Amino acid sequence: MSGAPDPAAVASVTRTWEGRAARYDRYYRAYAEAGRDAWRALYRDAIAALLGPAEPPLRVLDVGTGTGFAAILLAELGHEVTGMDASERMLAGARAEAARRGVTIRWRHGDGHTPPEGRYDLVTCRYVLWTLPAPEAALAAWARALRPGGAVLIADGLWHTARQLLRFPRLLPGAARDYLGMGRTLPYWRGITAPQTAALLRPAGFGPPRHFEHLMPPRRHRDSRDFFIIGARREK
Ligand SMILES: C[S@@+](CC[C@H](N)C(=O)[O-])C[C@H]1O[C@@H](n2cnc3c(N)ncnc32)[C@H](O)[C@@H]1O
Repeated sequence: MSGAPDPAAVASVTRTWEGRAARYDRYYRAYAEAGRDAWRALYRDAIAALLGPAEPPLRVLDVGTGTGFAAILLAELGHEVTGMDASERMLAGARAEAARRGVTIRWRHGDGHTPPEGRYDLVTCRYVLWTLPAPEAALAAWARALRPGGAVLIADGLWHTARQLLRFPRLLPGAARDYLGMGRTLPYWRGITAPQTAALLRPAGFGPPRHFEHLMPPRRHRDSRDFFIIGARREK
């Protein structure tokens, strides 16, 4: 489970997200709007707790940015944000959304296991760690992309079981085919827990984890659970 990701696995997972991009964008628009203020406040407070009082702009890399939810909030907080994603279609949605919101973000198409060069102050990753074929390798690469003392901030959870995907085909249309398909190449295809994530951080070069309250709206994901937000600083 350690070491570099299998390029075929990354390509296969990326194809799945390309196929889900339009649906993800609709979902994002349907419910994410209500959470924007709370998530923006959470990012502001978590950044202060992890990095101390620092005047924006911080250099932030949002890995697996999708339609840009976190990247746009971080830009609205005044930070200099790079949003990267392996899916061109996701990035097209993110670009349109950033333009609509009037924020400037640098977009990068690529694999999050090999982040762009840059001595970032912060790497964010919302609902992405579980969908990486080699999350340990990705975390180690993010640590190297951070300045010493920079921080990672991860939001994730346990998303699905095979039983749930097969029993509730309308909950997430196409999800059984897509997620069970990705499961062949993902060590955490059901999702990842806070203790599992915390255990990956130390070997990747991060210090002790700090936990923040998660903001998943109640009842939105009836059968998903164990949502968490964890941050940690790169060891010097
Ligand atoms: C569940 S979505 C989360 C999107 C966004 N972070 C959010 O909070 O709405 C997962 C995202 O990770 C991206 N992704 C999956 N594997 C990736 C990889 N190896 N490198 C970069 N992005 C990846 C997908 O294309 C998708 O946009």
